[in-house]
Formats: sequence, structure tokens, C-alpha cells
Amino acid sequence: MLGAVQLGLLAACVVLFVPMGMAGWHLSRNKVLFFSGALFITLAVGVHLTPYFPSVSDFITSVSSSSSSNVDVVVDDRDSCVSLLHEIDWERLKRHDVLELLNGSWVMVAGDSQARMFTLSLISLVLDSERVESVRASLFKRHSDYHIVVDEMGMKLDFIWAPYPSNLTDLVVEFKHSHVYPDLLVMGSGLWHMLHMTNASDYGVLLRLLRSSVTALLPVSPQFGMDGPVTGSVSVRSPHLFWLGMPTLINSMLNTQEKRVKMTNLMRDEYESELQKSNILRQFGGPLQLLDIGSLSWNCGIKCTDDGMHYDGAVYEAGLQIMLNALLIESHQKL
Ligand SMILES: *[C@@H]1O[C@H](CO)[C@@H](O)[C@H](O)[C@H]1NC(C)=O
Ligand SMILES: *[C@@H]1O[C@H](CO)[C@@H](O)[C@H](O)[C@H]1NC(C)=O
Ligand SMILES: *[C@@H]1O[C@H](CO)[C@@H](O)[C@H](O)[C@H]1NC(C)=O
Repeated sequence: MLGAVQLGLLAACVVLFVPMGMAGWHLSRNKVLFFSGALFITLAVGVHLTPYFPSVSDFITSVSSSSSSNVDVVVDDRDSCVSLLHEIDWERLKRHDVLELLNGSWVMVAGDSQARMFTLSLISLVLDSERVESVRASLFKRHSDYHIVVDEMGMKLDFIWAPYPSNLTDLVVEFKHSHVYPDLLVMGSGLWHMLHMTNASDYGVLLRLLRSSVTALLPVSPQFGMDGPVTGSVSVRSPHLFWLGMPTLINSMLNTQEKRVKMTNLMRDEYESELQKSNILRQFGGPLQLLDIGSLSWNCGIKCTDDGMHYDGAVYEAGLQIMLNALLIESHQKL
């Protein structure tokens, strides 16, 4: 449960950074004004929460009452703003907002089946339902990549089937060689390695390799911070990087004997601990911002999964909304 101070900070994050963030993204000035207004209204009305996350509903009223008194708190740490995004669910960004936000962007989601489901939730947000159905059929072909260009917004979206961390490393190394990489890169891997390798320390080794290849890709190395020295002269653009966390596993619901034997709670904890020790995540000094599918799926609970591993759209949609809000905050940093 969040304390009043954190709620105040969150309100300050929203009021200070989101309107500024919009200015740094693909939005026009008029839109920035519109969004500032909309955010104040959002705060006044209170934070909109979905029925999927009842544990946080208790503090809706405290959010709206503490926000007005705390908006002048100065918050310098944008990472803590972003991590607070996991605690609540804001008024969601709608299709129109996303069209503008991601206008002209190249988005890539790479990983295992969780990444595929995350891709589907992004597609569902930008395309109408008929087109989503036709996309779904090609997207869910097993073990294949998927590419789409959404003409209305000039957005290129790639899903890359990359089940092991080593596949992600290969991808990143290729970006480094070609000097061509997406504006937004979401990666995630773990379940596949857990099932087929079942070796947490090997997972850790692979994640460290991934971390160093991602770090080598970035024009600014993370230990200097985002405002630190920039290699090269003119404006160096770096991609927005996110890590799609592993979901909560409900062992008794897993659909094969092999999965139930190998993907135990203990094994998941070991994988989680390797993820932390690899320092690949921003909260541990690394380059990737966590989208915490683990806690989102935990909150959604047993009613949101049929196979103890893949969750209802609501979970990935919540992760997507967190990412979009984080982009609004983060894009300001890159100005
Ligand atoms: C995307 O950007 C282009 C060029 O800046 C603009 O003409 C177009 O209207 C934008 N589309 C959307 C959906 O915002
Ligand atoms: C992923 O990596 C594994 C092991 O390194 C390799 O066998 C497999 O071919 C790779 N798959 C893809 C899609 O690159
Ligand atoms: C697990 O992976 C580590 C590191 O790659 C390796 O040294 C070890 O032998 C592996 N353990 C098993 C049981 O395969």
C-alpha cells in the first residue's frame, strides 16, 4: 500500500512530467495544452482503476485528496515516477492518443509467447477489431516473426520470435553492426529457457551478455545517467528500452507434466533472482525499464489464466498502458 508521500509524488510526477513529456514526443503544442487540462481533470476526478486490480482501489480517494496539496513537490527522479506507474492504473490512453504518440515510430517487440501477447494488445489498441482478427491469425502462427505497417500513423511494428536471451543478444548485436535500430524496443525472455534448459545460472549468464550488448548499443552508457556525456557530436538518438517481466506461474494449472515438473515456484524465484543480479533492469542500474507482468498477473490472479502461464488481455494491456505512460515521462528526458 502506498503512503501519502508517495501518492503526492505520483501526483507531482503526473502534473510535472506528463505534459512536458508530450511536448517531447510527436505531439503539437495545442495537444500539450489539451493534455495538461485533461490530466488535471483526471486528478480531480480521481484515478480510474480497473476491476482487475481491486487491491489498489482503497486509495482512490486519498489520491484525489492528496494530489491538490502536493502538486508543487519537486521530483527529480523520473525513474521513481515510472516505477510508481505500476501501483495504479491511470485514465488510459486511447487509440487516438496512441496514433499520435507513436506516429512515425518503429516499434519492435522481441521475445517468447508473452511478447506475442503484448504485441497483440498494442495492435488491438491501434487497429479496429476486424483488422485485429486477421492480424491475430498470422501473429499467432507458432515460432514465426510478424511485421505490419500501420499506414494511418506511419508506424512500423515488428514482432520477433526470440525465445532465448541469446536470440535477443543476436538481435541487439545486429543493430549495433547495421547502426539501424527501432525507436522503441520491448524484450522479454525466460519461460522458454526455464522449460527447455531449466538452469537459472545459465539464464543469468545469458542476461549479462544481453546487458552488455544493449549497453554497447546505447550512445550514452547508463552509468553516466541520461543527461551524461554523449559520444558523437550531433543529437544522438537512443531507443526506448523495456523488459517484459515473466508472468506469475500457477504450477497446478500448467498444461503439461513437463511444465509442472520443471517450472516450479522455486525455479521461477531463481530465474527472477538471476534477472535482478544481471543488473539488466533500470532499477538495478541497467538499461531496460521493467514492465512488471509478474505483479500485474499476480494481481489479476487465477481467474485471468487458463494455463497458469498465459494471461487474459487485461494483463498485457495494463503493461502496455504502463509503457505508454512511461514513454510520455521518458521522452522529456531525451529532449
Ligand atoms: C502523423 O504525422 C504526420 C507528419 O507529421 C502528420 O501529417 C499526420 O497527420 C500524423 N498522423 C496522426 C494520426 O497523428
Ligand atoms: C535462438 O537461439 C537458440 C540457441 O542459441 C538457437 O538454437 C535458435 O535457432 C535461435 N532461434 C532463433 C529464432 O533465432
Ligand atoms: C548450468 O549453466 C551453467 C552456466 O552456463 C553451467 O556451468 C552448468 O554446468 C549448468 N548446469 C547444468 C546442470 O547443466
